[in-house]
Amino acid sequence: MSVQQALITGACGEIGQALAQELTRRGGHRIVTSDLAPLPDSIKGLVAEHVQGDLLFQAKVFYDYDFDVIFHLAASLSSKAEQAPEAAHRINVDGTMQLLAMAAYRSEKYNKRVKFLFPSSIAVYGLPSLEAKQNAEAVKENEWNDPRTMYGCNKLYCEKLGGYYGGFYGQKHLNDNPPAMLDFRALRFPGLVSAATMPSGGTSDYGPEMLHAAAKGEAYACFVRADARLPFMAMPDAIQSILDLTDAPRESLTANVYNVGAFSLSAEEFRQRTLRAFPQAQISFAPNPQRQGIVDSWPADVDDSRARRDWNWSPRYDADGFFDDYFLPKMREKYG
Ligand code: SER
Repeated sequence: MSVQQALITGACGEIGQALAQELTRRGGHRIVTSDLAPLPDSIKGLVAEHVQGDLLFQAKVFYDYDFDVIFHLAASLSSKAEQAPEAAHRINVDGTMQLLAMAAYRSEKYNKRVKFLFPSSIAVYGLPSLEAKQNAEAVKENEWNDPRTMYGCNKLYCEKLGGYYGGFYGQKHLNDNPPAMLDFRALRFPGLVSAATMPSGGTSDYGPEMLHAAAKGEAYACFVRADARLPFMAMPDAIQSILDLTDAPRESLTANVYNVGAFSLSAEEFRQRTLRAFPQAQISFAPNPQRQGIVDSWPADVDDSRARRDWNWSPRYDADGFFDDYFLPKMREKYG
């Protein structure tokens, strides 16, 4: 099998580190990374080349690289983006468009569809009220696409941009001999929880923050109400879903964008399960109105039947499995 040339942007983030490790474990990839920061030790030895700096200025460098697959993970997450919305737009939208244009150019010029994997988010959904959220079933991809955050607007728009560059760029699909276009595939992730790393800048971060604080014996004040409910997923399942979607034959995909879910918990259920594992944990609630408002607008659960049908998506960890088979054993390894 020939070696696949892979680019991971935002490689220093949680998904980036876990993805670089899993690609290395599977073998067959030459990994190039980019990020504002230098590579952490966890992946330094796994990467052939690291391009450090602002993606908006670095993207042009990548016109000279022959990537088979691009995992574009660099982003300013939902809570951070509300602190500096225009800066977030620049990173989330302008940065994505630069890379899409590069991948589209290379696909056409070399007549090879570059795969472009894009992590989107439950932030693309916007439920207008808590009542609407409580009454909504698990949301489907085309429902409630009315985001209330800059991050959600950015992700939704970039899904559309990906569809454009992958199908209609310059209306060349109507040519007699249409050129190869990039192969865009997006996943809408719930809150992700890793046992190895901590999130930063997101609004679903209270889940992992609560757990890691308990494991370290630190008190934690949760920034949303006890009844706040979101879908969550273990990081290994997120990586599995990215790679399953990457490997799926294009003919089996009926869409560019897929929900993926695993389990849904309220903050109180998170706390109860955390207490069961760490009986000494001190967890209180101190809701932050802005972050609470964001969580109230996100769905409690997602319908991922499209992913299950098209590419056999199935998470390994439900709520019990997440705690018993993933998070707690990893914490015991780490902290004893
Ligand atoms: N975890 C992300 C956030 O909270 C959602 O995609 O911003």
